[in-house]
Amino acid sequence: MSDKTYAPSAAFSVAAHADKATYEKMYAESIADPDAFWGEHGKRIDWIKPYTEVSNTNFELGSVNINWYADGTLNVAANCIDRHLATRGDQTAIIFEPDSPDAPAQHITYKQLHENVCRLANVFKSQGVTKGDRVVLYMPMIPEAAYAMLACARIGAVHSIVFAGFSPDALANRINGSAAKLVITADEAPRGGRNTALKSNADAALLHCNDKVKCLVVKHTGGQTTWTEGRDIDVKAEMATASADCAPEEMNAEDPLFVLYTSGSTGQPKGVVHSSGGYLVYAAMTHQYTFDYHDGDVFWCTADVGWVTGHSYIIYGPLANGATTVMFEGVPTYPDAGRFWAICEKHKVNQFYTAPTAIRALMAHGNAPVEKYDLSSLKLLGTVGEPINPEAWNWYNDVVGKGKCPIVDTWWQTETGGHLLTPLPGATATKPGSATLPFFGIAPVVLDATSGEEIHETEAEGVLCFKTSWPGQMRTVFGDHERFEKTYFSDYKGYYFAGDGCRRDADGYYWITGRVDDVINVSGHRMGTAEVESALVAHAHVAEAAVVGFPHPIKGQGIYAYVTLMNGIEPTDELRKDLEKWVRTEIGPIAKPDIIQWAPGLPKTRSGKIMRRILRKIAEDDYGSLGDTSTLADPGVVDELISTRIELK
Ligand code: WTA
Repeated sequence: MSDKTYAPSAAFSVAAHADKATYEKMYAESIADPDAFWGEHGKRIDWIKPYTEVSNTNFELGSVNINWYADGTLNVAANCIDRHLATRGDQTAIIFEPDSPDAPAQHITYKQLHENVCRLANVFKSQGVTKGDRVVLYMPMIPEAAYAMLACARIGAVHSIVFAGFSPDALANRINGSAAKLVITADEAPRGGRNTALKSNADAALLHCNDKVKCLVVKHTGGQTTWTEGRDIDVKAEMATASADCAPEEMNAEDPLFVLYTSGSTGQPKGVVHSSGGYLVYAAMTHQYTFDYHDGDVFWCTADVGWVTGHSYIIYGPLANGATTVMFEGVPTYPDAGRFWAICEKHKVNQFYTAPTAIRALMAHGNAPVEKYDLSSLKLLGTVGEPINPEAWNWYNDVVGKGKCPIVDTWWQTETGGHLLTPLPGATATKPGSATLPFFGIAPVVLDATSGEEIHETEAEGVLCFKTSWPGQMRTVFGDHERFEKTYFSDYKGYYFAGDGCRRDADGYYWITGRVDDVINVSGHRMGTAEVESALVAHAHVAEAAVVGFPHPIKGQGIYAYVTLMNGIEPTDELRKDLEKWVRTEIGPIAKPDIIQWAPGLPKTRSGKIMRRILRKIAEDDYGSLGDTSTLADPGVVDELISTRIELK
């Protein structure tokens, strides 16, 4: 951690949406009278029927209820497209940069976006999708993914995007979990010069789904796919003949816009439900203020639309603001480690937003791939997904930003819809590694982890919670409101509990110390250790498994799995490879363990509970602080695991 501060330059502050005084004034107003504040800022989007009430929220366990702008009506797609047509119909809405640097980029104007979204919306309708139905997207990062999201929003269907790196099993679970009527996918997803056969994954998934589920296929690469007549539909062919007019559906502010599955500390991933009105207001407002977005700027968020960052900051926030947003199909290191910077130069990107894991990976290639390109268009840099180590922060600042671009380290979650802790670039002096201060309307508190008492001193260390609601907050867990309450409101009564630990320094700045639950953050991807464990124990040779995170130089955290084999099964390298492959097919490549250690036994309490604290320490190579092991049923297990511990190669 570093306490060096970087104040915004006077020139940046003067031109910014908020300088320090403005931030402080607006923040104070937002906390003193949230309804007045959000009542005013809710007007930044277009309402069909204006709201008369602003917030109606309750964090009390048993009656958790979150409503914003509840009597207003709107259409999200109309806000992201139609309302810009008169003033910026010919402006580029989306710049699509394909995986291959040799393929031409596409510039899609707001007019073209309108036409494509309407056509696809009509295709959805012709397949029987109506208001409230769920549509699953399993898509590469191509314009059709954006069209599909907005087409759902236009007709009031609820999209649920499954990251294209997930396996057929994971896809089937999510199709079934949300009882989707339709899946939209592509033949293949090119990434880093290699094509993933998305459609064949979808075929495999659909074997486990209701046979009424339709499969819309974007013929993107033209790669061969098998075709099931009556179920599979060629999207581009249908769009070509569909009408380019589709009236937007009038939706209630609280109608769900999307479901997005995310990992928690227990059980299978849960469907996070976001609203239409409050979510859009919050995504748009954070996009404008956090990135200091101005008309005419080119904004690039490198996330995938399969994650919440892609939802809020590739699609909804930027398009609601009439921005030009970049969508990149590929990876940072293809064809070489200069690709990000080549794209920044080519499209004159003004704001660039990525994850610390990407920064660390690129940093490892040295400065030359950055210095080859003209990055003078860059005005601001952002990060998200995990704590950024000061070394990576400094490299980002010095080598990419040439010391001239403010860095916004944005802390938020799938559940929060948008940034909660973040610098505002014209207002906040930054400190490398700190997500700094709350956004407007956000009331963070630090609680003592054991007593649950709020720590009122400025300097504090404990768990991060929030006292009051904000418009972008998730509304419920799909189909399971009780799980919503239990997950977020039961550990610390009356607060929203984020699952992260934090420290607040003498300046009131927040420093995230990582998850305090059994969630790990691998390359900025959220993973429940329980999910990986249940995949491992589903293997015929595995008796028991315990999974923990450990510090990884590039990924932030890696996956360390302790595996106990069935009696009589030999631990071999071949079996280890087989287990890695097994997890890839059960969940997806992002869940593949970095290390599998054979464990003849696991440290357990006398009541049989696995002591993960100890396993974490062993994985972290930190035995000095193993703590009390006297409550273990068999303390000898620990020595055995220490002596057979495996180093990351
Ligand atoms: C972590 C991603 C430190 C955190 C938007 C959180 C961060 C989880 C930061 C949510 C940050 C996200 N600094 N940690 N700037 N941003 N996190 O749902 O642990 O994929 O709880 O949302 O990522 O991950 P999720």
